[in-house]
Amino acid sequence: MTLPKRTQVAIIGAGPAGLLLGQLLHKAGIDAVILELRSADYVLGRIRAGVIETGTVGLLEEVGCAARLRREGLVHEGVEISFGGARHRINFHQLVGRSVVVYGQTEITRDLMEARAACGAPTLYEAEDVILHDVTTARPYVTFKKDGAVQRLDCDFIAGCDGSHGVSRRSIPTDVQQVFERAYPFGWLGILVDKPPVSEELIYANHERGFALCSMRSHTRSRLYIQCDLDDKVENWSDARFYDELAKRLDATAVARLEQGASIEKSIAPLRSFVAEPMRYGQLFLAGDAAHIVPPTGAKGLNLAASDVFYLSRALMEFYIEKSRAGIDAYSATALARVWKAVRFSWWMTSMLHRFPNSSGFEQRIQHTELDYLITSEHALRAMAENYAGLPY
Ligand code: FAD
Ligand code: PHB
Repeated sequence: MTLPKRTQVAIIGAGPAGLLLGQLLHKAGIDAVILELRSADYVLGRIRAGVIETGTVGLLEEVGCAARLRREGLVHEGVEISFGGARHRINFHQLVGRSVVVYGQTEITRDLMEARAACGAPTLYEAEDVILHDVTTARPYVTFKKDGAVQRLDCDFIAGCDGSHGVSRRSIPTDVQQVFERAYPFGWLGILVDKPPVSEELIYANHERGFALCSMRSHTRSRLYIQCDLDDKVENWSDARFYDELAKRLDATAVARLEQGASIEKSIAPLRSFVAEPMRYGQLFLAGDAAHIVPPTGAKGLNLAASDVFYLSRALMEFYIEKSRAGIDAYSATALARVWKAVRFSWWMTSMLHRFPNSSGFEQRIQHTELDYLITSEHALRAMAENYAGLPY
């Protein structure tokens, strides 16, 4: 593919944020070029999020990328919380009239990549050494290396959708950026396995041995997680040891339905909360993990990437179509207001469900009381359901 020398919006990163933004802009008649460090296969090989909010589904509908999700995605009207040996269902549908869809991030990425290829919009994979230039001027540009040769892409705006390790956030001087961060003293060990899920819906388990989560990708594929130590290694965990530990943290009914199969993926992810403010610097806008990270307990990472690009696409449409800068000037504050609510919810879910090393008897009683209050108070349940199913844009 020959890449144009100039575009309206240069998008850095072809994860969910970059690809969805690309399609939203394309639909609005705004040109964008996506530069991605990795190959398409590498991007598709990463196993990540699985729970999709209604708002995210709506955006995929808007860009014509929801057909397979509608066919293959599993609509979940609630989740289960397990503690003290019993399971408690939280019925989102009854509480807030909404539901979520279980459909893998990998599948969303594939659907968006195919739509982008079909409309002929340019994406350059394996673009190395991306550098952002003159972002505080009206004529920013990006340089990158492809097959050893340095190339230049001129643009009006740059969308930094390149995740937490990308170049975009690091291009903002530290004296204009404020960072808010919390690292949690544990990680998640996750496996993917071709065995049916142990339950119709997700089970989030609080157990004295540590947190566990039984999720899924389909009726025949499970995604299972257990809390592990931060310095633990995947090599320490044979499949047998994983299932043995998971079974200790689940209720008897779930254990009876747990089918053990060979894992097809196994990885450890540390948990942290991170927000960089503001999400704009001159003509550069950050979106998704490039600006913020949430621990996966609230299933919010991918959904936040989607709400960010919703706000950003609307702001850019206002700029190009209505010739108004109001949207781009408000972008950072608008996006951050929703981001912080998801950061709070993810922190709350994480605090309520995990075993914290060195936690005192007092802290453990408070944690159990939090769970007990949640499942016995209609108001607490509604607040949980409202946040889990996704706050409005
Ligand atoms: P990313 O998906 O990270 O995409 C960024 C893209 O930019 C990548 O393709 C990357 O290769 C590219 N890139 C990076 N640097 C450069 C560069 N210099 N130049 C060009 N391109 C670059 N969320 C949940 O809701 N549930 C989960 O279970 C869950 N599990 C996760 C497990 C892991 C290990 C990780 C890392 C994240 C997980 N998340 C989960 C979070 C969720 O996957 C992210 O929030 C989501 O991927 C954010 O999308 P994004 O497009 O902003 O960033
Ligand atoms: C997943 O299916 O990978 C998943 C689901 C819910 C979460 C986190 C991960 O909270």
